[in-house]
Amino acid sequence: MRVLVLHSDVPPDAPPDDLDTLIAADAVAKALAARGHEALQAAFVADRDKLRALIRRHAPDVVFNLVETIEGKGSLAHIAPQMLDEIGVPRTGTGAEALIATGDKPRAKRLFREAGLPTPDWSEPPGWEGLTEDRHIVKSADEDASLGLDDAAVVEACEVRARAKACADRYGGRWFAERYIDGREFNISVLEDRGGLRVLPMAEMTFEEWPAARPRIVGYTAKWDEASFESTRTVRAFGIEEREPELARALRDLSERAWSLFDLRGTARVDFRVDRADRPLVLEVNPNPGIAPDAGFAAAAAHAGLSYADLIERVVKAALP
Ligand SMILES: Nc1ncnc2c1ncn2[C@@H]1O[C@H](COP(=O)(O)OP(=O)(O)OP(=O)(O)O)[C@@H](O)[C@H]1O
Ligand SMILES: [Mg+2]
Repeated sequence: MRVLVLHSDVPPDAPPDDLDTLIAADAVAKALAARGHEALQAAFVADRDKLRALIRRHAPDVVFNLVETIEGKGSLAHIAPQMLDEIGVPRTGTGAEALIATGDKPRAKRLFREAGLPTPDWSEPPGWEGLTEDRHIVKSADEDASLGLDDAAVVEACEVRARAKACADRYGGRWFAERYIDGREFNISVLEDRGGLRVLPMAEMTFEEWPAARPRIVGYTAKWDEASFESTRTVRAFGIEEREPELARALRDLSERAWSLFDLRGTARVDFRVDRADRPLVLEVNPNPGIAPDAGFAAAAAHAGLSYADLIERVVKAALP
């Protein structure tokens, strides 16, 4: 098979969360080559004619879509599958419509609520209706990768507006407040495999030696500065399927329902917090989650006995007509 691995067009001095697309593209291409496929790599171009020419030149059987940002914006990522579908080339992963629906967090949360999927209460500008007296986390409505998330993101209700304004001034975009859930965190990876869904071994993010006064969040530093305290002390743990089957069943059920709600394809990761009453709450659904070898998805696949090359090959097979 001939596979074109298409990544975001990022400059070499881009922030680490943007550069991840290049690391993933390289790893995916190597994994495919190791399985005897022809793997080519190219940066996405958001111009119809240029993209069409690029596809014609490489003539792939399938495009492996790793486009996470366009012009540095995650909120534009849906343009890639949209344009590839217009061109009519098979591509991996979720389509434009679902990327739009999940890419805006407050909008996705409204859809979770309508579908009966539990999610923490939240409040949005400009009216900030329904803002309760709880502690909140202020986060971006349409960017991911824990952009703008550090200890100061967790605030009392009276500080929400000031934090949201400070973040909007610094990073641009819309910022909203979600009730801070002081509880456990789980990332559930789901793979489309052999015509069905496969929920991979469930990962809990544990916070080790964490100072009691600090909020327990996987912030920007934890995700993108490997040597930092935050990164080395947020440790992925597996095994709740055996130890806590009831919680595992609830997480599995909600993850599968989230997948169907958005009609996801290929891979997805559903992020949860579990509140003090042991209720899992959906934070967000990540279609096309990070698929670099050191990311959570590959770690979960490895726990299921799938090598990295197995995983990548399955994602490609799921995309074939
Ligand atoms: N309501 C909440 N209560 C407690 N912690 C939260 C809450 N929302 C987010 N967090 C913390 O912030 C992290 C990032 O939040 P979230 O997953 O919503 O955003 P993201 O930036 O889109 O992340 P990703 O990199 O997974 O796409 C979570 O993993 C969690 O640690
Ligand atoms: Mg997340």
